[in-house]
Amino acid sequence: MPPDNNIAQEIFSETAIQTRVKALGETISKDYKDAKEPLIMVILMKGAAIFSSDLARQIKLPLQMDYMIASSYGDNTFSSKEVRIIKDLQDSIQGKHVLLVDDIIDTGHTLQKVANILKTREPASIRICTLLNKKARREVACPVDYTGFEIDDGFVVGYGLDHAQYYRNLPYIGLLEES
Ligand code: IMP
Ligand code: MG
Repeated sequence: MPPDNNIAQEIFSETAIQTRVKALGETISKDYKDAKEPLIMVILMKGAAIFSSDLARQIKLPLQMDYMIASSYGDNTFSSKEVRIIKDLQDSIQGKHVLLVDDIIDTGHTLQKVANILKTREPASIRICTLLNKKARREVACPVDYTGFEIDDGFVVGYGLDHAQYYRNLPYIGLLEES
């Protein structure tokens, strides 16, 4: 049975998200305006699917988009967490400016490892863009270039983020309360 959507208490409204995404798009457009090499968004599925499709439409530059599914596995201790690529990119990123887009950075393990994998493919550059950043929870260095919102600890859902694969379709971001 799907959980009750009402238990997700809104922390960022649909309007607040759209305003922030527009501003991010403007900043990114400005930053890559004079780039000679192609710009490609590398989108981490599934969480970043909704954020990235709104963000892409606010980037007023020629833009490629490609998708990747990465998954953590191994034992449950974060320090030995490995990242496995479930679905790899279709396109080459060699010589391109990569904008790596994720939904949320928590410990930083996933993005750090994905970024390291992508670096071996000789892109022109890699920058990281995340919708949400839980800075206080960081365990490994993961330099973030573009952040939608900083948040405190707590489990959030909506606008692409899930709990047990539900809530991704909420137009707002909510804090999931224990029920
Ligand atoms: P990290 O490797 O700990 O940074 O893991 C980040 C990933 O964990 C994100 O891409 C999400 O898929 C998931 N995650 C972490 N915190 C939350 C949350 O509050 N809500 C939903 N997913 C989360
Ligand atoms: Mg994720």
